[in-house]
Amino acid sequence: MTNGWTNEAAIGRWDAIPRAALDALEPDGGFAKRALLNPALLRLAGDLRGRRVLDAGCGTGYLSRMLAARGATVVGLEPAGELVRYAAGKPPPDGPPVHYLQADLCAPPGLAGAFDVVVSSMVLMAEPGLDPAVLDSAVTAAAGDDGARGYVHLPNFCVLLAERMRSGS
Ligand SMILES: C[S@@+](CC[C@H](N)C(=O)[O-])C[C@H]1O[C@@H](n2cnc3c(N)ncnc32)[C@H](O)[C@@H]1O
Repeated sequence: MTNGWTNEAAIGRWDAIPRAALDALEPDGGFAKRALLNPALLRLAGDLRGRRVLDAGCGTGYLSRMLAARGATVVGLEPAGELVRYAAGKPPPDGPPVHYLQADLCAPPGLAGAFDVVVSSMVLMAEPGLDPAVLDSAVTAAAGDDGARGYVHLPNFCVLLAERMRSGS
């Protein structure tokens, strides 16, 4: 059910958010994320040192930078060009640099097996054209054949975490 609201239109809205509004959410996504979401996500993600993480629908990239500051090599995937540019313009984290990729999860680029952990925070509900099954299969592919996935739904949030299980790690 999209009520005529298209993928392109939704991405266009994300592109049009004023910079001042984005700045107001730095450096940690704002109050709700600071208080509720970030602690849960970081706890679920566990020790990220040396791990390859995809932040699918990264927006301003605040979470990508938090994950990189914990030692992960992070790719922030985001379809809205203005948000990609905003994210790329932020000072690098105290950790491995974040790479940003302008791409759409409705037509996911070939990422198969490229990541150990996939996080998609508050994205599923933001995208009318994004079939959960499409996101699910994109995340499964990114996490690799031996990936194990878990979903966590918090009030008003949708968090998807896919963890590739690697023996000995
Ligand atoms: C509520 S914001 C969350 C951004 C970021 N994950 C965060 O927690 O700050 C939703 C994000 O989903 C992105 N998005 C919308 N449609 C998408 C799609 N088809 N593929 C990937 N990301 C998408 C938007 O551009 C926006 O950055």
